[in-house]
Amino acid sequence: MRNLLSACLLIALSAACNANNDLVSDSSCKSGKKWTGGNAGSDYMHPGGDCIGCHVAKQKGPQFLVAGTVYSADGVDEPDDCGGVEGATVSITDAKGNTQTLTTNAAGNFFLRSRNASAIAMPYAVTVTYANQAHRMVSSQSNGACNACHTQSGANSAPGRVFAKPAN
Ligand code: HEC
Ligand code: HEC
Repeated sequence: MRNLLSACLLIALSAACNANNDLVSDSSCKSGKKWTGGNAGSDYMHPGGDCIGCHVAKQKGPQFLVAGTVYSADGVDEPDDCGGVEGATVSITDAKGNTQTLTTNAAGNFFLRSRNASAIAMPYAVTVTYANQAHRMVSSQSNGACNACHTQSGANSAPGRVFAKPAN
């Protein structure tokens, strides 16, 4: 964090210095905003990226029980680093019936820090709600790394991104 702050002072006003701030405007993203801060630690970093997988691989960043990004109804194939939708709720019900609800931030990211929560009993079920439209994952999953499956093109049979259900 200290390194980041000094880097920001050196390059103040530059687009690369967006560490704990909003994403930058980018019309190539449906949300109109994109993360350009690379691996600078932030709640808004790498929307669409595999938060848990990268933090584990690099042995940096917080440990999360679940983490991911929610995109708009037309955002199923958004590229990595494009921001998602703010204010979506992600409701996770574990195998013991305990439910935890998370809300997406300005990057569309949500996460549950391991130190702030007791373990999630696998498998879990999940429902994403945005603008009063609930979108449920039909299957139950045993891996909290949502974006490991919900990639731009979809891995492990996922259709692509976690996205908000279109309004009727
Ligand atoms: C490609 C690798 C990578 C991906 C993907 C990634 N991170 Fe990180 N993250 C890092 C690294 C490296 C750090 C540590 C940065 C540091 O110590 O300066 C970090 C740190 C953080 C921090 C701590 C910030 C702080 O104040 O110290 C948060 C919060 C975070 N990441 C959230 C996320 C979320 C949420 C996602 C997914 C949407 C994500 N990260 C995806 C590499 C990644
Ligand atoms: C191991 C792979 C995998 C993981 C991990 C995973 N999903 Fe899914 N997800 C799928 C598959 C496959 C589908 C399509 C079939 C279905 O609905 O079960 C899907 C569908 C969905 C849908 C409905 C369609 C869409 O793309 O929006 C939502 C919402 C969803 N998942 C949310 C999540 C959330 C939130 C997490 C993390 C808490 C998560 N998923 C973790 C594989 C995964």
